Amino acid sequence: MHFFNYENGELKAEGVRVADLAREYGTPLYVYSAATLRRHFKAYDSAFAGLDHMTCYSVKANSNLSVLRLLAEMGAGMDIVSGGELYRALAAGVDPGRIVYSGVGKRPEEIRAALEAGILMFNVESMQELERIGEIASELGTTARISLRINPDVDPRTHPYISTGMKTNKFGLDMDASLAAYQRAKDLPGVEPVGIDCHIGSQLTSVEPFLEALDKILAFHDKLCDMGINIQYLDLGGGLGITYNEEEPPHPAEFGQALTERLGGLPLRLILEPGRSIAGNAGILVTEVVYTKDTPSKHFVIVDAAMNDLIRPSLYGSYHRIAEVVPAGREDLTVDVVGPICESGDFLARDRALPRVESGELLACFSAGAYGFSMSSNYNTRPRACELLVDGENVTVARRRETYDDLIAAER
Ligand code: LLP
Repeated sequence: MHFFNYENGELKAEGVRVADLAREYGTPLYVYSAATLRRHFKAYDSAFAGLDHMTCYSVKANSNLSVLRLLAEMGAGMDIVSGGELYRALAAGVDPGRIVYSGVGKRPEEIRAALEAGILMFNVESMQELERIGEIASELGTTARISLRINPDVDPRTHPYISTGMKTNKFGLDMDASLAAYQRAKDLPGVEPVGIDCHIGSQLTSVEPFLEALDKILAFHDKLCDMGINIQYLDLGGGLGITYNEEEPPHPAEFGQALTERLGGLPLRLILEPGRSIAGNAGILVTEVVYTKDTPSKHFVIVDAAMNDLIRPSLYGSYHRIAEVVPAGREDLTVDVVGPICESGDFLARDRALPRVESGELLACFSAGAYGFSMSSNYNTRPRACELLVDGENVTVARRRETYDDLIAAER
């Protein structure tokens, strides 16, 4: 559910005409809906109302400060994966006691900054990282709260690039290595094991893989109890999928109910790290048709947004629904919607049925609120797009469009 709807023959973002936004702020343009973000956060968070839990939004999905601030104000914690994300979360006013830090390659200065900020816990992904965190915490005269990220070897049945909990993935530690790591953590100065963590992948469209992982984690938890390690947190990561096209992912309530059945009564605080399910359908990318071009084999619609703005179609072959901002009612054609970048992999859609459009008209690319702007780049020396946050009738420039000066500012 989102608040991008057609009214009187044109697309609106909540109470604002998208065409007006494009006129005023230019294209390519990301538009986020505050009401959608709130609704998704509430739906997610209240799905776990029956459990002691904390919803730590995954900053990587959409890390704009305005988005982080809005979610933090609703009580979200954050899941971070870099010093940069820590910096953003703190700048957005997130309570450090609600921040969890994942990732396989945390550098010493990043670990130090997180300890100094007083984050809730590190999700540790290797023995070397555990030792390093212990050393740095001891140097600082503090103790790092840690979880070990367990790789449960479960197939999340999603795109291979975003599967993370299979034994061939770089993430976490297998069960045996995890046991050894907890044993070490128990005796290691500077660290205190307080949780178990696991994140098996992204864009999951059924609850079964989550439950399969959870069963393995709970069995592992019993072993920890036998070892005299009493943990307080169970972090199940993120990964709940959304509808881009015809997927039918479980509603957060269904996910919540399934977890509540398994976890109810256990003395563990559940942590969740949703990203896409909060932000994905809360954003669109608006783009203008620059030219159209017919070749003997294809109809191309050349737009001003490119793979540097939204890389998901190029990188994962992802589907994003594309529609006219002001439908003109022309006949359908089968088209490739492509950007101006000098690569054949630069497309937003291939062989897509779309009404015939003309130069100067606007298209909206839906479900672009997660892993859209946050994965964007300056490739082909293209300034990154403007980001707007619409709240009812109010429009906030969440990030101004980059200028050419911005593009060369850090260079000599
Ligand atoms: N927690 C951890 C440790 C993660 O690695 C991720 C995502 C999340 C939480 C949030 O997962 P979500 O709820 O958003 O599925 N760029 C890809 C997605 C990469 C996901 C990486 N990790 C895409 O555009 O599909």
